[in-house]
Amino acid sequence: MTFDVSAVRALYPALADGHAYLDGAAGTQVPVTVIDAIAGAYRAGIGNLDGAFAASRRSDVIVAQARAAVADLVGGTADGVVFGPSATALAYRMSEALSRQWTTDDEIVVSRLDHDSNIRPWIQAAGRVGALVRWAEIDLATGELPAKQYADLVGPRTRLVAVTAASNAIGTRPDVAAIAGYAHAVGALCYVDGVHATPHVPVDIAALGADFYATSAYKWSGPHVAAVVADPELLETVWPDKLAPSSNAVPWRFERGTLPFADLAGVTAAVDHLAGLAAVGAGDGPGAGGMVAGPTRRERVLASMAAVEAHEAALFARLLDGLAEFGDVTLYGKAARRAPTAFFNIGARDPGAVAGHLASLGVNVWNGDNYAYELCQVLGLQSDGAVRAGIVHYNDASDVDRLLAGVAELAVR
Ligand SMILES: Cc1ncc(COP(=O)(O)O)c(C=O)c1O
Repeated sequence: MTFDVSAVRALYPALADGHAYLDGAAGTQVPVTVIDAIAGAYRAGIGNLDGAFAASRRSDVIVAQARAAVADLVGGTADGVVFGPSATALAYRMSEALSRQWTTDDEIVVSRLDHDSNIRPWIQAAGRVGALVRWAEIDLATGELPAKQYADLVGPRTRLVAVTAASNAIGTRPDVAAIAGYAHAVGALCYVDGVHATPHVPVDIAALGADFYATSAYKWSGPHVAAVVADPELLETVWPDKLAPSSNAVPWRFERGTLPFADLAGVTAAVDHLAGLAAVGAGDGPGAGGMVAGPTRRERVLASMAAVEAHEAALFARLLDGLAEFGDVTLYGKAARRAPTAFFNIGARDPGAVAGHLASLGVNVWNGDNYAYELCQVLGLQSDGAVRAGIVHYNDASDVDRLLAGVAELAVR
């Protein structure tokens, strides 16, 4: 399997500014194919759905293609893909709808590892109906979210377990399949935040046991659109607040107002971009031309994301080895399975000042709690948080080395 990072980088116009983009965990740059797909939709002319004219039909096709693309990315079915403006907005939408079925006898489980968007909407929904909230805790020494604690956290009253597939701060990838197993054993649903995991690993929502899987396209080279993927049969059992004249059908009834059609064309282009990554720079991609049917897009996504995972793992090892050379650098979390995201502080230095120094060197990193609010509380970092350097597939060794050189100007060996 080839992964030619310089050929991949050449597809991203924004990278030409020479910055080391290690801020991908907060949003990636987009390849030219995504830019062209969005511009192309507007250029061709789009209309609202279900109209009698061609521009409307183009939007119908764009939506259908985007649902199929996201389904291929995560292993779902197109009819189970619900689009929304952000994973946060969708978590609120789903929590409002699901909690209509909860009572004061019910319980939900959230985790201290999660981004606040997979915690607060559930707590607020539970609060409105008087359901009890239980907390899964992280092991502070390792940053792991031990799955075994769920044996005590879930029970016959549990209706929902919300958990992340990867921490956007310390990278921890919990054993979601095991956690979902505990939920399903008592008839509860598992809502998985896949926003941070999706750009880094092959995703199979069935293998994860995710009843709902949230993902945001802007974290994987697409536009600012998010999706929740679920079994359409499950969605049939859930009723959100909706307008009287809007469709009652699944998945449409979960989508409020008019969809962002041009951006959805970009979503499809982003999935196609990911599906082609392993073949970029390797001449014709698998299945190109010829009479023999090539691999499906789902198969190409899985192969590409495996190549992405290996590429990112090598860069992450380089980053961790480099940071380990500094005596006053504190790295938070050392989970066995991690997304390639480093969360660290340099002595008592203000993380914002460190990020500012790195920015002056052309290195883009984030600082703060990055909305891993509960995690930062238990780590004692509060809102100052730490510095976050996140690797994505278009990063290369020079990005990592420039970060380490910048850290070396502030840290002691
Ligand atoms: C793990 C995780 N979950 C959820 C979100 C929120 O996503 P959105 O911006 O689409 O609401 C983020 C964004 O940073 C994230 O990293």
